[in-house]
Amino acid sequence: MSWIKENCVSFFQLFCIKVVKTGRIPQHIAFIMDGNRRYAKKHSVKSSAGHSRGFDKLSETLKWCLDLGIPEVTVYAFSIENFKRTEEEVNALMDLARDKFQRLLDDIDQINEWGVRVHIAGRLSLLPDDLRALVSRGMLATQHNNKLRLNIAYAYTGRDEISRAASHIIDSVKNKELNADDIDDELVSATLELGEPELLVRTSGEVRLSDFMLWQVSNTVLYFSDVLWPEFTIWNLLAAIIHFQRHAPLLKEEGTISDTKQTFLNKLEFRRIQELEKYVTNC
Ligand code: FPP
Ligand code: MG
Repeated sequence: MSWIKENCVSFFQLFCIKVVKTGRIPQHIAFIMDGNRRYAKKHSVKSSAGHSRGFDKLSETLKWCLDLGIPEVTVYAFSIENFKRTEEEVNALMDLARDKFQRLLDDIDQINEWGVRVHIAGRLSLLPDDLRALVSRGMLATQHNNKLRLNIAYAYTGRDEISRAASHIIDSVKNKELNADDIDDELVSATLELGEPELLVRTSGEVRLSDFMLWQVSNTVLYFSDVLWPEFTIWNLLAAIIHFQRHAPLLKEEGTISDTKQTFLNKLEFRRIQELEKYVTNC
C-alpha cells in the first residue's frame, strides 16, 4: 500500500468531516500506534503481518488528516526500547520500513502532489546503513512539501531527543554561537526535532506515554482509545477530535525569537541537512 490511501472516505464520512471541521481542528496531532501484535494474535497471523496492517492504517489515517486539514502528524513507529524485541521482529520491522521508504521514493511524484513532507525523528545512527540512507533520501526528496508534515519517530525516545538537543546546545555554547543566558525553555523547545502536538492519541487501551514527546506534551490534550491500532476507524479519529474540541486550552501567542537563537537554529537545520546528504553519499 502507498503512503496515502485514496478512495477510503465515503460521501457520508466526508459530510461528517465537514461538520467536525466547523469546530477547532488540531494543527498537530500525534499517535502512539499501539496494539499491532494483539491484533495479529487475534487474527492468528504473525506479528509482522500485524505491523504491516498497522502501516496500512497509517496511510488511511493520513488521508483522513489531509481531508480534515490537519497540517502536521507525528507517529511513534519504533522506539529505541523496541530494539530489545526478538531479532525476528526487529528485522521484520526494519524490512517493513525499507519496503515503505523505497515505495515513498518510487511514488515521489504522487507524494509531492499530495504535498507531504516526511521527517524521521530519532537517533538515525542506530539504524542499519542502508535504511538510514533510504530514510535520508526520503527526507531530502520531500523537504520542500508543505501541505502535510509527517514526522515518524523511529529509533526514538523522548528522553533521547531531549539529550540530543542538550548536546547541540552545549556544543554551541562551547563554540560561542550561544551564550549560557540564551538557554531557556523556548530554546530547548525549538532545538528538539518535534514540535508540540495539540492532541495525542494512543490506541489499544494503554494509558502511558512510553517515553514519547515528553517535553512537548506539557499542554497537549490526551485521548486514549481501547481500539487496537489496525482497527482504528475514521469514527475513532473524529471522536478524538471532538474530545479535543471540548478540552482544548486557549491558543497561546507565539513569542518572537532572538537573532542569536535564530542563527543557532538555522545552523542546526543546515547541519541536519548536511548530515542527511552525507548518509546518502556514504552508502
Ligand atoms: C506497537 O504495537 C507498534 C509498533 C511497535 C510498530 C508500529 C509500526 C507501524 C504501525 C508501521 C509503521 C511503519 C513505517 C515505515 C512508518 P505493538 O507491537 O506494541 O503491539 P502490542 O501492544 O499489541 O504488543
Ligand atoms: Mg504495545
